[in-house]
Amino acid sequence: MAADATLMEKLTALCKRRGFIFPGSEIYGGLGGFWDYGPLGVELKRNVKELWWRDMVLNPPTGPDGKEISMQGIDAALIMNPKVWEASGHVGGFRDPMVSCKAEGCKALFRADQVAVMKCLIGSTIVAHIGLEAASKDSPEAVSLIRALNDDPQCTKQERRRGKELRRAIRDAALEHPAVRQVLPTQGQLAEDEIEETFERSLRTEPSGSLLSVEDASTVSCPRCGKFTLTEPREFNLMFETHVGALQAASSKAYLRPETAQGIFVNFSNVLDTMRVKIPFGIGQVGKALRNEINPRNFTFRSREFEQMEIEFFCHPDTAMEWYDFWRKVRYDWYVNLGLKSENLRLRDQEGDELAHYSKCCADIEYLFPFSDEFQELEGVAHRGNYDLTKHHEHSGKDLTYFDDELWQQDAHKYKGDKDAAKKAKREMPYRYLPTVIEPSAGADRATLAFLCEAYTEDEAPNDKGQMDKRVVMKFHPKIAPIKAAFFPLVNKEGMPELAQQLYRDAKQHMHVFLDVKGAIGRRYRRQDEAGTPFCITVDGDTLKDGTVTIRDRDTLEQVRVAKDQVVSWLKERLA
Ligand code: GAP
Repeated sequence: MAADATLMEKLTALCKRRGFIFPGSEIYGGLGGFWDYGPLGVELKRNVKELWWRDMVLNPPTGPDGKEISMQGIDAALIMNPKVWEASGHVGGFRDPMVSCKAEGCKALFRADQVAVMKCLIGSTIVAHIGLEAASKDSPEAVSLIRALNDDPQCTKQERRRGKELRRAIRDAALEHPAVRQVLPTQGQLAEDEIEETFERSLRTEPSGSLLSVEDASTVSCPRCGKFTLTEPREFNLMFETHVGALQAASSKAYLRPETAQGIFVNFSNVLDTMRVKIPFGIGQVGKALRNEINPRNFTFRSREFEQMEIEFFCHPDTAMEWYDFWRKVRYDWYVNLGLKSENLRLRDQEGDELAHYSKCCADIEYLFPFSDEFQELEGVAHRGNYDLTKHHEHSGKDLTYFDDELWQQDAHKYKGDKDAAKKAKREMPYRYLPTVIEPSAGADRATLAFLCEAYTEDEAPNDKGQMDKRVVMKFHPKIAPIKAAFFPLVNKEGMPELAQQLYRDAKQHMHVFLDVKGAIGRRYRRQDEAGTPFCITVDGDTLKDGTVTIRDRDTLEQVRVAKDQVVSWLKERLA
């Protein structure tokens, strides 16, 4: 799937029209980065979260050692003691370098590391940089821009036109810039129009890096307005602040959690002590996280309020790589099994300089969304060493080490008669240690968005007159579909509505179903296709004679007849 703005627009429109996702507080003009899930969206996202909980916490796959995995769940508070965020490094380090444009009428804000820059050179002197809102200098947008600016013979017509416009804009802006003024006169005392011509002729453009690699941000053109009016990068903490209690003083300052993970780390001992679990074991949590993202964008992809589904899996350092490989695969397979086709989904191992300093390895599960040519992160699976537990152990002063009592019981005889040696041994490896953590950290909203993108399909289906009509159908995997089945009486008479209602009431006790009694049958099908309902069940004339109903499959359009008292078990079989 290549970037397809039209598809994204159609999907966003469908989400609004059919009640999947609305802009947050829309009647007051909305609020950037906040979204409300409507009646269909809430069911869709709830299914994603519940399947995650069921498949990861309640019934995880067998471990790499062939044994059952021990998993526990928690639901920690959204606001925690601010010391948690000091220990985790979020107070000191959860910052993005930001630049803003000073130009009147622009005032755009960017994350400095997300502005790719191209060097504009005259000879070997850099006279300016072109800023582009793109993930990297190697992104397709950046490559196309370089081609256009250099008037490359391979340029498409569109790129050539863009290149011409851009060169003119750069020239206008750059000729005002001191760096350009310094270079051009050295080529001789030229008249103004000759300077312009020399500039045009001599300008070359090369890929460079990100804005962060440029010493002077004022030599970079604003990716929005093209003017050389960017501020220097400034640090910006992404945590939302609040105050606890009546006093708005520094002492009452607290943060809305930017991730659910820390709630798990601070409860490590509580779970260990109360659930009689042994290493290896994991703790899962699903919950809201809030980040004051600088550029919330791409629908719900980068929101300011979102939900995470995180596991912290605690294991012995010697087996950590085995668990890392295990979770990497389990998490990737989970998306595939719920319908994300493998060509749009990939598992990418992070390169050395992408890794956090404490992380031994990390893999990103990425999806090719229609809003970009590049794969984007859905989930990270990280080997975090014992970094987090060490930090909380140090900052809280509470002992968060794990004592392997089973191993000690086996070995205790070795220390018989030497109390001091036994005491010393019990304080050290292999009996006592801070466990290593493998963290599969997923976003429920990003997963939901990926499922929405993957499901969106345009095809043809017969209308009431048997002619083929274009239809929009959301081909969700039945397990995540918001409505599992819709019940229709074929006509509004002869006892059909009453029977359809009876069947609907029976099914409603087991799953989310819908009853639609109005309109032409074709139109009722279309409505359910757009909602992604996998099965439509019609009560017709034959139902009254032989007690069977028609069940129509959303994707194949095939229809089968099923005894009316078998409908619920038929559906359950297909949703299992
Ligand atoms: N505890 C590790 C952690 O929070 P992260 O990569 O910052 O790691 C994990 O976040 C996941 O949370 C991401 O892979 C993504 O799915 C989701 N996520 C992060 N920021 C988000 C945002 N602004 N909007 C929506 N989802 C987001």
